[in-house]
Amino acid sequence: MNSRLKIPTVILGGTGYVAGELIRLLHMHPHFERVAVVSDSKPGTSVASAFPHLASIVGEQSFVSIDSAQQLLCEATDSLVLAAAPHGVSATLIDQLLTGTARAGRYPKVVDISADYRFRDAAAYQTVYQHAHGAPDRLSEFTCALPEHTTTLASPHVAHPGCFATAMLLSIVPLVALQLIEPRVFVSGITGSTGSGRTPTDGTHHPRRHSDLYSYGALQHRHAPEVRSIVKTVTGQSIECHFVPHSGPFARGIHATTQATLIKPFSSQEMIAALRDFYADQPFVHVLGHAPRLKDVVSSNYAHLSATTDGTTVAVVSAIDNLTKGAAGGALQWANRLFGFEQSTGLTAPAPGWT
Ligand SMILES: NC(=O)c1ccc[n+]([C@@H]2O[C@H](COP(=O)([O-])OP(=O)(O)OC[C@H]3O[C@@H](n4cnc5c(N)ncnc54)[C@H](OP(=O)(O)O)[C@@H]3O)[C@@H](O)[C@H]2O)c1
Repeated sequence: MNSRLKIPTVILGGTGYVAGELIRLLHMHPHFERVAVVSDSKPGTSVASAFPHLASIVGEQSFVSIDSAQQLLCEATDSLVLAAAPHGVSATLIDQLLTGTARAGRYPKVVDISADYRFRDAAAYQTVYQHAHGAPDRLSEFTCALPEHTTTLASPHVAHPGCFATAMLLSIVPLVALQLIEPRVFVSGITGSTGSGRTPTDGTHHPRRHSDLYSYGALQHRHAPEVRSIVKTVTGQSIECHFVPHSGPFARGIHATTQATLIKPFSSQEMIAALRDFYADQPFVHVLGHAPRLKDVVSSNYAHLSATTDGTTVAVVSAIDNLTKGAAGGALQWANRLFGFEQSTGLTAPAPGWT
């Protein structure tokens, strides 16, 4: 890919929080150009009205319909679709776009940030999400994994594993791949309120979350089977994953603690060294010698990990930003890979530190 080319890029789920973060990050990317932001609910209204903090970079741009976006994609030789619509909707929108562009001999690359392409088969998806998959014939066109865990990509498109799963997989995959633990992990994770998207519900509304901390969906959450499936894809090994998510009283960030039983004694220093070695070539994963803190990663694409052992058990703690590394930034990291750019292109801005 000629690195001076700008790849036309379309965003789906336009008024959502992840779409806003995609717009912000694309503005700093040298090779992707935002040509359309698709809104199902507000085509024709200004992008700035949904994202006042982005007014200086979106100018007069308005949201467009999916048909207008398809027209633009049909005019481009190479193009990118970043899908940030809800699960249950995303697969259908992507299918519609890919079917329409194929008729014109155009084949955009897609990174789906929803859950629609995280499972390999439609039955597994239906079991977890309780509705039929929107485009089952396209499941084989997507790989779901973190870029840190996949050296070669056999599919044209990618599914981002999601925010909680990113924090969990960064901890779990090295433990499993290096055969350090018994195949059973226990994860406790805390997410900020932006993880629930723009529309407040009783359980996610600010007055409920502020100054409070509570679990939800303990041992029942849909991300546990997704993590099991992705661990199997990238390591070939089956594990149990027992997950208790929590709502945290902050807007951005995920803090996850993964515990597992060691197969053989490993000191904390040895575990940290093993994780550092595993991620030695990965620009966004930093393995610390002390406990990670959300403020050091929030609003950045970096992940901070650390580990402690007591002889029989390991606890790996990870911290990421849910909207950046866990969604928009992680998706752009994949998009860089899909187009042959350095995976860190446009994504290396550090966390502000005080948010
Ligand atoms: N928030 C996070 O931290 C996070 C992290 C990882 C993954 N994700 C995933 O990323 C996706 C977007 O998340 P989000 O937090 O940005 O959600 P959100 O704030 O609720 O936004 C989703 C957007 O999708 C569009 N939409 C909603 N219903 C639709 C429908 N029936 N048909 C077409 N479009 C519809 C809406 O935009 P328009 O009406 O303008 O189209 C809505 O603003 C979800 O699949 C979510 O699971 C989120």
